[in-house]
Amino acid sequence: MIGAPVERVDGVAKVTGAARYSYEEQVPNIAYGVIVDSTITAGRVTAIDAREAQALPGVLLVMTHENAPRVNASAGDRKLQLLQTDAVFYDRQPVALVVADSFETATDAASRVVVSYDRAKPATTMSSPGATTYTPPSANQNSPDTTRGDFAGTFAGAPVKLDYTYVTPTEFHNPMEPHATLAYWTGDQLTVFDASQGVFSRRTSMAKILGVPESSVRVVAKFIGGGFGSKGGTNPHQLLAAMAAKATGRPVKIVLTRPQMFGGFGNRPRTEQRVRIGAGRDGKLIAMAHDVRSQGSRYDDFIENAAVISRMLYAVPNQITTHRGVRYDVVTPTYMRAPGESSGSFALESAMDELAYAVNVDPLQLRLLNYAEIDLSENKPFSSKSLRQCYAQAAERFGWSNRKPEPRSMRTPEGLLVGYGMATSTYPSNRSSASAAATMHPDGSVSATSGGVDIGTGAYTAFTQVAAEAVGVQVERVHFDLGDTTMPMAPQAGGSQLTASVANAVHAAGVDLREKLAALAIGDARSPLHGKLLGELGFGDGRVFVSTQPAVGEAFAAIVRRSGQPSVTGRADVQHDRRQKSPYSSHAFGTHFAEVHVDPDFGTVRLARMVSAFAAGRIVNARTARSQFLGGAVWGVSMALHEEARPDERSGRYMNANLENYLVPVNADIPAIDIILVDEQDEYVNPLGIKGIGEIGNVGSAAAVANAVYHATGKRVRELPITPEKLLT
Ligand code: MOS
Repeated sequence: MIGAPVERVDGVAKVTGAARYSYEEQVPNIAYGVIVDSTITAGRVTAIDAREAQALPGVLLVMTHENAPRVNASAGDRKLQLLQTDAVFYDRQPVALVVADSFETATDAASRVVVSYDRAKPATTMSSPGATTYTPPSANQNSPDTTRGDFAGTFAGAPVKLDYTYVTPTEFHNPMEPHATLAYWTGDQLTVFDASQGVFSRRTSMAKILGVPESSVRVVAKFIGGGFGSKGGTNPHQLLAAMAAKATGRPVKIVLTRPQMFGGFGNRPRTEQRVRIGAGRDGKLIAMAHDVRSQGSRYDDFIENAAVISRMLYAVPNQITTHRGVRYDVVTPTYMRAPGESSGSFALESAMDELAYAVNVDPLQLRLLNYAEIDLSENKPFSSKSLRQCYAQAAERFGWSNRKPEPRSMRTPEGLLVGYGMATSTYPSNRSSASAAATMHPDGSVSATSGGVDIGTGAYTAFTQVAAEAVGVQVERVHFDLGDTTMPMAPQAGGSQLTASVANAVHAAGVDLREKLAALAIGDARSPLHGKLLGELGFGDGRVFVSTQPAVGEAFAAIVRRSGQPSVTGRADVQHDRRQKSPYSSHAFGTHFAEVHVDPDFGTVRLARMVSAFAAGRIVNARTARSQFLGGAVWGVSMALHEEARPDERSGRYMNANLENYLVPVNADIPAIDIILVDEQDEYVNPLGIKGIGEIGNVGSAAAVANAVYHATGKRVRELPITPEKLLT
């Protein structure tokens, strides 16, 4: 059952509307909050005139820094110090919350709140006067700087040298479902229905900031319309909803408008990445430096760890990598799908492509020539690595051997320039502690739980399959529930870790359950299994039996019914200490091959096709896994050709804070993308051999497209996105 392409168990609920998202939850007497955002990026609020808003019938509260309850956000959580002072640090910072008895009234009233400001002159770009550079203590939990061998000496003497800077723009996550929360207090108990990537981490953070015990907070997240990192941390609207619910004594719902999604929730920071490569004339890497400058806020640290991928992807003996933050007047950036690896792979894999042309070696051959047999960043073997198989299968399916090496050498019959490009993909295999429970009912059905969330990835389905296999029942007999802090603890759906973490716990709980059932039968004189040893027994098809005599056995349901208990529950807590050193380095690997067609007169780029192959250990559901890889690949196409949040360089405000002008690909931009799942067994990464797959699809895909554009046009665009004007000038 693990591995089968089972259809989504929540699919019918989603397409019929039965699946309730946070904003759709209903409790009596709901009030509606609408956030008033700052229209400046730096300065102070000098006055808030709420008289007209307050005069509207149905308005319950206008909360500002003058009347908001005090909160305990730490200095490192400046964006969560909501309505605490008059200071403004970024575009669209919440400066007031209007609460009314309807969404329409609250929206109307919010538009009538008049905010006066004392504007400071903002630094609006990374190179503006007033922007300051700093060395961070860490780059997203990695060391910011590394050194191995002697970069300077070997680079100086290298026969072939490259030195280029690659730029990725500010991007916003824009999940289809905007941020949304319903919060209400029952006495001192706070309940929050939230579009969240992790209910337990949300509970911890909200309890701390609101100054209540964790046991007083329940967070529920049943269905989520995408997160991509933006729903990983605690955000302003959740706290504002809880604060307003306290102040009004009513349940408060807040949902953001699309432009507000470009406000206080973070984004992928702009990066400027200098890559220097020293190589032999044969293309063998001798030296590499990858120096990253990452967009940062004035008041908190977040670094896009873009150089981390360069530490382990190729066999380069001499290397330095550095990360620096650049502070200016923006919101603190945050995790966005494959934070670091996606932007970093654009730089590294573009530079590798440039090297391939410089030494006249096929780009795929160049990667094989520099294949890393071990992880040089940790000096450890990989727990498994099937990248060669990925390259071979994708190249074969794509028809890479038909590529003519010269740029501008291939055309369609209509005269469009044709380009073939490829790049490598990788993402670390993360995992955290997780717990789960599985219960057998007297009718033979199983309910299983763990408090992880399904952010749209297929977690309900994957964990249903794992529970079914572990217990030994059909998938149809299992109901899996998740997304509630009343359930066994699970980590958040981030860092591509949820399946690897929770599946192992669900499996262990399922095994615990069937062993409890077997023990009941063994101990019961009325059972045909009475007196047998556990080791003699087999499990499957909803029953336990003697392995050598399958006819001798009992249905799980019968064991429960005779036990006199209402049901039997198996439980598991699977601990994983991330700091504990493993003798192995664990990563998923893959590759993308892209074909683009470029109009030589207009510079328009169309993706014609893409073939991507991934090896990520054991795949739990081939159907939903394919969707994950596919979605990630599309994100890379978007990074290459479409996405860019552009600040007005005078005000610092984002000019395209909407889905009309902030471009993402639509169906017409994406041809069939062929996803190859490469078989891989990993005995070391975790008991079930699962590597995460949520983010790797987004690594290397932008570079594959960009490399194809170079092959088509002979023009190297090192600053994304690749727009027609950049190709024509
Ligand atoms: Mo993901 S960016 O680790 O939520």
